[in-house]
Amino acid sequence: MADVEPLLRTESGDAIGGDAAARRPVFELFEGFALTSVLASLERAGLLARLEGGSVPADPSEGRDGLPLATLRYLAQRGVVEEVNGMFTLSQRGREICKDKGYLVWLQGGYGHVLASLGDFSTGARRYGDDVIRDGRWVADGSALIGRDDVSPHATEVLTGIDFSHVVDLGCGNARFLIAAANRFGVTGVGVDLAPEACEDAGHAIAAAGLEDKIKVRCGDAGDLDAIPELAEADLAVAFFLLHEIFEHGREALMAYLRKLGSIMPRGAYMLVAEVQPASGAPDEKWRPEFTLLHAIMRQQLLTAEGWHDAFVEAGWSRHEVRDLGLPGAVLLLYQNTAPAGAEGGE
Ligand SMILES: C[S@@+](CC[C@H](N)C(=O)[O-])C[C@H]1O[C@@H](n2cnc3c(N)ncnc32)[C@H](O)[C@@H]1O
Repeated sequence: MADVEPLLRTESGDAIGGDAAARRPVFELFEGFALTSVLASLERAGLLARLEGGSVPADPSEGRDGLPLATLRYLAQRGVVEEVNGMFTLSQRGREICKDKGYLVWLQGGYGHVLASLGDFSTGARRYGDDVIRDGRWVADGSALIGRDDVSPHATEVLTGIDFSHVVDLGCGNARFLIAAANRFGVTGVGVDLAPEACEDAGHAIAAAGLEDKIKVRCGDAGDLDAIPELAEADLAVAFFLLHEIFEHGREALMAYLRKLGSIMPRGAYMLVAEVQPASGAPDEKWRPEFTLLHAIMRQQLLTAEGWHDAFVEAGWSRHEVRDLGLPGAVLLLYQNTAPAGAEGGE
């Protein structure tokens, strides 16, 4: 088919609404923001599952104000779904995005309102922690979805190489790791998380998995190691995306934490840690700049793999294995406790 000549052109010869708009970077941001909001919101309302499960009919009478159909049409216009014979189905691009939807849920559900307050945080009109906090449920749910593909397979592979039977998960979120570990390795576990919504979700997930006799979750501060007596019997402590919260209180606080953990846990016990490294400044880096900025808002700094290594070694832990995770710039660190029982030296 011959190209249709546009009716209007700018002075530079671009078709109005065509090439010129395509070259304006603002519309890429505009679309990304809208699509992120729409997809995360559908997931949070439990509606994305329908599309992930198969085809959805174009039904103008469905839902409130015809919004389901308007949304499906929007997603088709943006290439996330395809409409064939009145049925909407995820496109290849849509399937790829849904596979990684945890990133959208984490960002929009957990931190959307936090990012939107950045101007006020910068002027001092509001303060993170006092006036605005992240949403614990969607941080935990988003993290669990991200972890499903980008952490768990790597963690399982690493853990296959060691012996362990009792796990303590520090900052366990919705207990997705403990449930997977109990199913895969037959171990028992205790989880501790500060967010009541995450603990509530964890309770439901453990019950749904029929693992109440193997896994317990408590709502509490994982920074208070004295309140976690199970550590004395644990041969594996897990801290996925938690240790930077301890580092928030300074390097000395982190060192004291790691030393104390080593003094409570049996000699030879393991610690498995996942952390995102800070943005490196490389062009086109994915995820790390946003993760770094959000943690700066929360007054938290991130460490490189070398930074974590130095801290662990100084606190009496030896490196067993370090590898990259599926999340851009994230690392999985497995260290072993070399401290003699009861020793809390260096404090
Ligand atoms: C990014 S999420 C990761 C959740 C889980 N570890 C995972 O990988 O799916 C971090 C979790 O740590 C929890 N958390 C943060 N500070 C904590 C603290 N001091 N004590 C216990 N939990 C904490 C948060 O509530 C959140 O659920």
